[in-house]
Amino acid sequence: MSGTPELQRCIERYTQANPNSARQLENAARVLPGGNTRSVLFYEPFPLVMSGGNGCFLDDLDGHRYVDFLAEYTAALYGHSHPAITHALTTAMANGLNLSAHTELEARLATLIVERFSCIEQVRFTNSGTEANLLALAAAKAYSGRSRIIAFNGGYHGGVLSFHGPTTAMNVPHQVVLADYNDLHSVERVFQEHRGEVAAILVEPMLGASGCICAESGFLEGLRAMSQAHGALLIFDEVMTSRLGPGGLQEKLGIHPDLITLGKYLGGGMPCGVLGGRKDIMAQFDPRHGGLSHAGTFNNNVLTMAAGIAGLEQVYTREAALHLNARGDRLRGQLNEVLAKMPMQFTGQGSVMNLHPTALPIRSPWDIPPDRNNLRDLFFFHLLECGIYSARRGLFALSLPLTERELTRLVVATQAFAERYGGR
Ligand SMILES: Cc1ncc(COP(=O)(O)O)c(C=O)c1O
Repeated sequence: MSGTPELQRCIERYTQANPNSARQLENAARVLPGGNTRSVLFYEPFPLVMSGGNGCFLDDLDGHRYVDFLAEYTAALYGHSHPAITHALTTAMANGLNLSAHTELEARLATLIVERFSCIEQVRFTNSGTEANLLALAAAKAYSGRSRIIAFNGGYHGGVLSFHGPTTAMNVPHQVVLADYNDLHSVERVFQEHRGEVAAILVEPMLGASGCICAESGFLEGLRAMSQAHGALLIFDEVMTSRLGPGGLQEKLGIHPDLITLGKYLGGGMPCGVLGGRKDIMAQFDPRHGGLSHAGTFNNNVLTMAAGIAGLEQVYTREAALHLNARGDRLRGQLNEVLAKMPMQFTGQGSVMNLHPTALPIRSPWDIPPDRNNLRDLFFFHLLECGIYSARRGLFALSLPLTERELTRLVVATQAFAERYGGR
């Protein structure tokens, strides 16, 4: 692997410190391509293999304990063993799995979601955020009788709806036209080129996988106005961002999309996706009136429903959401202060942030330069040596069990990094 001599030394130390992870992945590679069944987890020279988790801590196969600052790419909001969640799961298990029928649980979780997210009148459950977005696009196309979708360069809506990075053969063949994030002119151009054909705009209110790039003031409001003017629906993909406020970013921004997709933490750590929105659009799925059939063996599985209910009812209350995101904003400010003299910065909002190897403003994915000095890679390995786990691409997400002690530990580790590499 190429890289600066410092990075090479870091990687050598990493390799020496993690023989069990390396061995496990080698063995796994016999039956899983590259030992992997989830692409995002891979990094060179080999990723860590975890043996378990507790609260906000993770243990790996070589006996290291890490503070978890990745939180399952935002899904592990509740940490790894929240008592309210584990109690809900054990109670649901004791009551029997796979009941081949409706239960009371799905309506309870749906009610909590409708009460929480002001733009949602009705919901459908799916097993992932990806599926929720596929369902959203199907609903929008059927409702409008139109075929095209506007999405954004850098947008990520799941493994088969990825406009982030090189074009992928994995994408589903929807007629997607890409515009540029934070550029309303580019959206208007697409509407003009495809007059009367656009069913919906699909947008993340903050670009997540592309590096926590925030929408500039007026951009999302502009999308709302434009979609209305052109008779298209507005779909907010809040799979990642719904944790950023008690009612998601849509509430924080005061914008009412027609449809919204959710997932990640909403199932209390179990597989989960949600499509919600206006009743007249959602009514297409009402089986009493025919219309769209939306199947899915596990759509209402009792574990997801029970853990999701416990999470929203008992743990991630409106107050908890405000508190966690205020902590995240404070932490990001502290980290950026520490990195102020380096070509590095954290972007993001509230409890989700991303490190970038530049101090210049970032308003689109094109503004993120390649990590020529390997600073972001160095930071990743430096943090592992300090007992802190994050994503190599620079994503950090806070979970509820993190205390001030762990947040301070990240700030101190960042100070040590700045002292060690700041003069390069
Ligand atoms: C904004 C956004 N949409 C959709 C998805 C896909 O969700 P899932 O991985 O549950 O399919 C993700 C996952 O990271 C996401 O960040």
